[in-house]
Amino acid sequence: MTASEPRKILVTSALPYANGPIHLGHMLEHIQTDVWVRFQRARGHQCIAVCADDTHGTPVMLRAEREGITPEALIDRMRAEHWEDFQDFLISYDNYYTTHSEENRYFSELIYTRCRDNGHIATRTIRQMFDPEKEMFLADRFIKGTCPKCGAEEQFGDNCEVCGATYTPNELINPVSALSGVTPVERESEHYFFRLPEFTDLLQEWTRSGALQPSVANKLAEWLDSGLQEWDISRDAPYFGFEIPDAPGKYFYVWLDAPIGYMASFRNLCDRRDDLDFDAFWTKDSKAELYHFIGKDIINFHALFWPAMLHSAGFRKPSGVYAHGYVTVNGEKMSKSRGTFVMARTYLEHLAPEYLRYYYAAKLGSTVEDIDLNLDDFVQRVNSDLVGKVVNIASRSAGFVKKLGGSLADELPHPELYDEFLQTSETIAELYEAREYSKAIRHIMNLADRANEYIQEHAPWVMAKEEGRDAEVLAVCTQSLNLFRVLMTWLQPVLPDMAHKAAAFLNVDDFAWAAIEQPLLGHPINKFKPLLTRIERDQVDAMIEASKVTDEAKAAAKAKANDPTQPANQQKKRDAAAASKKDDAPGIIQFDDFAKLDLRVAQVIEANHVEGADKLLQLKLDVGNGETRQVFSGIKSHYQPSDLQGKNVVLVYNLAPRKMRFGMSEGMVLAAGEGQDLWVLEPDSAIPPGTRIS
Ligand code: MSP
Ligand code: ZN
Repeated sequence: MTASEPRKILVTSALPYANGPIHLGHMLEHIQTDVWVRFQRARGHQCIAVCADDTHGTPVMLRAEREGITPEALIDRMRAEHWEDFQDFLISYDNYYTTHSEENRYFSELIYTRCRDNGHIATRTIRQMFDPEKEMFLADRFIKGTCPKCGAEEQFGDNCEVCGATYTPNELINPVSALSGVTPVERESEHYFFRLPEFTDLLQEWTRSGALQPSVANKLAEWLDSGLQEWDISRDAPYFGFEIPDAPGKYFYVWLDAPIGYMASFRNLCDRRDDLDFDAFWTKDSKAELYHFIGKDIINFHALFWPAMLHSAGFRKPSGVYAHGYVTVNGEKMSKSRGTFVMARTYLEHLAPEYLRYYYAAKLGSTVEDIDLNLDDFVQRVNSDLVGKVVNIASRSAGFVKKLGGSLADELPHPELYDEFLQTSETIAELYEAREYSKAIRHIMNLADRANEYIQEHAPWVMAKEEGRDAEVLAVCTQSLNLFRVLMTWLQPVLPDMAHKAAAFLNVDDFAWAAIEQPLLGHPINKFKPLLTRIERDQVDAMIEASKVTDEAKAAAKAKANDPTQPANQQKKRDAAAASKKDDAPGIIQFDDFAKLDLRVAQVIEANHVEGADKLLQLKLDVGNGETRQVFSGIKSHYQPSDLQGKNVVLVYNLAPRKMRFGMSEGMVLAAGEGQDLWVLEPDSAIPPGTRIS
């Protein structure tokens, strides 16, 4: 699929409603979109991504009223918040606009008048519930009453949540307006309709053209076969939206102007960028590609109404509309009381964006299946894949290169292994292209394992201690850093920030997909800095706690300021811990006491899990002069064996050996901290094992 001509691609995500904050459900969509967009850009294509806030409709109007501000003030504030959330999640939209814009008014009017002039708009008088006190027509969900079937009280105007019956609001027993509490009355009003049934043939064809997922096309075929209905596109004043031309007091229904918001956002971008031509993307004969990423709940708007309207108005239709499923947390619907309805901002206050980007990518396929965010799996997967596998390749090799002059060797010692990686590159590209991210990630992680095995087999830390083997050490590290570069090239759509840091380390501008054809040889690299840290389980717990909305939680919010387990107070907790340590710290010792300790730098040759021990790792240490030692260390909950392989540690060399259930422990490895926060001390990798610390 290496296209010789760069493609011109425009991509959108569904426009989030301006009446609420962004949450982790929304983030699935924006991450799915952004991974695809960044992938296309890395492949050298022109890929523009736009989004916007969906600002119109009754809920925004009512919320602004409640807050005592104008709808304009409300939507400005929400857009700023949403945009910040997306930026902090590293979503790379070229434009994040608003549907309440002149561009959107222009295109909404244009498309509407073209549809009207083509005979695709009908008007008809309908009867609808009206709130005589608020003086407005009521959508079904703003009417409550007793279910006519089962008698359950407080049910909405369209269906009963108790018995599942569906009905019209005037069938409800004792209906009341949810806005004012008064009894609504039926009133007549003229409405405008889009004549969707006229487009049945067109849609039969378009929905089967490959633009949709097969399961979606099948579902729509059922609807198309059973007959489409005209679509009500007008709402009466008061309404926050665009007035319909030549129809005073009538407004476009929010769902009419919302998808047009994609166009408007792109138009607004074109006006600021000389290299973009609006028409090249939107006219009927456009050669550009247009993709909409959406959730499964809004398929009919995007796959029926939208292509039909575009067609009637003389614009191009989408090349693809791709629906994803819903996010569940720990197998259940996101829930405010369980604390699993997590806002994007709350997540960001506790965790780095790339953890979620990676986890969602590792789970996303091309179907509309729901995606489960399992919190245990999330912590485990991110730590073991990203920190344990990918980062580890670089961190185990970087120090040796630095020590040996700071430049990679002129040749790969195992070009066949590099080729093996390259041969998978197109497969991975095809999987990204087809939105099969989970499969792409599986390939990438298998090869990350392969790279780690390679390092393990060649153990540069062993050779590094032997005379005259510097060239071999450098060769092995050159090989592994080149494999790392290939892996980062494949992962960059998912992990843009880590890729940025890795590029700085490898001293390259970026990770263009095609560049890996040439390995990096004879190339100076920079100092290695940590690329990503492990997730700690208590960060996740704190995020869930902060998301719990219960009366208790509200009361607890007050107490929170003094709660040492709250993340905001962790510095306080550390300070307190440090202070208390001073209290039970041993008193002054003389130098002679200190001199009794024999501390030495040792290198981890092997680290292994211990059968039947839930706290211990077994370490095999090189302690210099050809001597090795076995030490059992209680660090299992903080480190994977692969985290430690090849690292330098501090050993208490003259501690009396201790017989443990699993064997002799010959010394002790020093660590800082205790409990949840624990770090093994790691002397510089340049220090040879056996060196005494004094
Ligand atoms: N404003 C409309 C879209 C207009 S597009 C022209 C809308 N807004 S929304 O805020 O309710 O949802 C925005 C997107 O987020 C939709 O694609 C929706 O499916 C998606 N999601 C909202 N909650 C979700 C989950 N819990 N999980 C996954 N996606 C979800 O619909
Ligand atoms: Zn009922």
